[in-house]
Amino acid sequence: MPHIDHAELFPVINRHIWLNHAAISAWPLPVIQAAQDFIYENQHHGALNYENWLATEERLRSQLAEFIQAPSAEDISLLRNTSEALNIIAQGLNWSAGDEVVFPANEFPSNLLPWQWLERTGVIPNAVDLSKDNPEQDLIDAIGPQTRLVAASSVQFDTGLRLDLARIGQACRDKQALFAVDVIQHLGALPLNVSALPIDFLVCGSHKWLMAPEGVGFMWSRATVRSQMEVALPGWRMYPDPFNFNRDDWTPPETGRRFETGTVNMFGIHGLSAAISLLLELNPQETGEALLDRSDYLFKALSDHPKIEMVSPAQRQRRAGIVCFRAKHTDAQCVVDTLASEEIHVAKRGDNIRVSPHFYTPYDQLDAFVHRFEDVRLWQACAA
Ligand SMILES: Cc1ncc(COP(=O)(O)O)c(C=O)c1O
Repeated sequence: MPHIDHAELFPVINRHIWLNHAAISAWPLPVIQAAQDFIYENQHHGALNYENWLATEERLRSQLAEFIQAPSAEDISLLRNTSEALNIIAQGLNWSAGDEVVFPANEFPSNLLPWQWLERTGVIPNAVDLSKDNPEQDLIDAIGPQTRLVAASSVQFDTGLRLDLARIGQACRDKQALFAVDVIQHLGALPLNVSALPIDFLVCGSHKWLMAPEGVGFMWSRATVRSQMEVALPGWRMYPDPFNFNRDDWTPPETGRRFETGTVNMFGIHGLSAAISLLLELNPQETGEALLDRSDYLFKALSDHPKIEMVSPAQRQRRAGIVCFRAKHTDAQCVVDTLASEEIHVAKRGDNIRVSPHFYTPYDQLDAFVHRFEDVRLWQACAA
């Protein structure tokens, strides 16, 4: 990784110990600058330079394709968030009554609701409990002759478990099911090569590991699958020349734009473009290793503690940036709130305390977090 002045590039570390990237990240300097430039431009010139904004939008499509190693930017749809993308898939596939969709039972709600909603149309949602030892097999075993789609998050939000996408995807191929992957807890944390994976849809939002503004997300879809899908939300923005309002032919295009509707989040697009530039420059392989080093470090330090029970898997290849644990006989919310009052920010998910540093998090900040659990007063104050 090139030498980085972390305090300058990631100003959040000057004020806070931010171990909550799995929720929302603070913006790095280039994103802050892009946002400030966008505000300045609006203040002084309004939308006069709209052509430049459109150029940034186009550049973002290419940047995203490069970031996920997709051969073509045409497979990218710029959307609002992960939920929108998953709903586009749910509403776009031509389901028949009795078709099944398989997904992990403990998913974040964005990867539950679109499938459960389909039940009204006769589709069978099959929520699968994932075991710790062989979660892929649990999903694979649930794929039956009626399964049209398997949908899963690459990294589970409440345990930090990272799934083997190649293995699940291959089983989907073998059993002729489609595979949709929510990578919001993966992308920006670890590198991802969509070209090397047997998946059909990849969906992501910006505000977590990508460190960009909220309200902009994207989907990558496999062209052969996409062209068969219904356009559930038709809109003027789906055309490559959207400002031709008087076209004769309103046939939806076959590119990823097919799923875009109306006016885009230009502010978010400018921020996300700056974030992806930074991440590409820093090299996703190297930032990924730096993050895994940190999550390993946390895992080892916490698992030594007699009153801490680790929830995340121990193996490095089973994790990304999230480390979850339980503090025995302790009110987790009390711990999270007490630490927050000391500017150490983590999250509670279920009964778990979830810690999510990023590749730039200084090790002394990780130590400051771990050391708090050596303080008997914290345990006493939060005893349950
Ligand atoms: C796995 C997962 N998917 C999706 C989301 C968010 O979805 P959206 O981008 O629609 O807000 C989160 C967290 O907020 C998440 O952890």
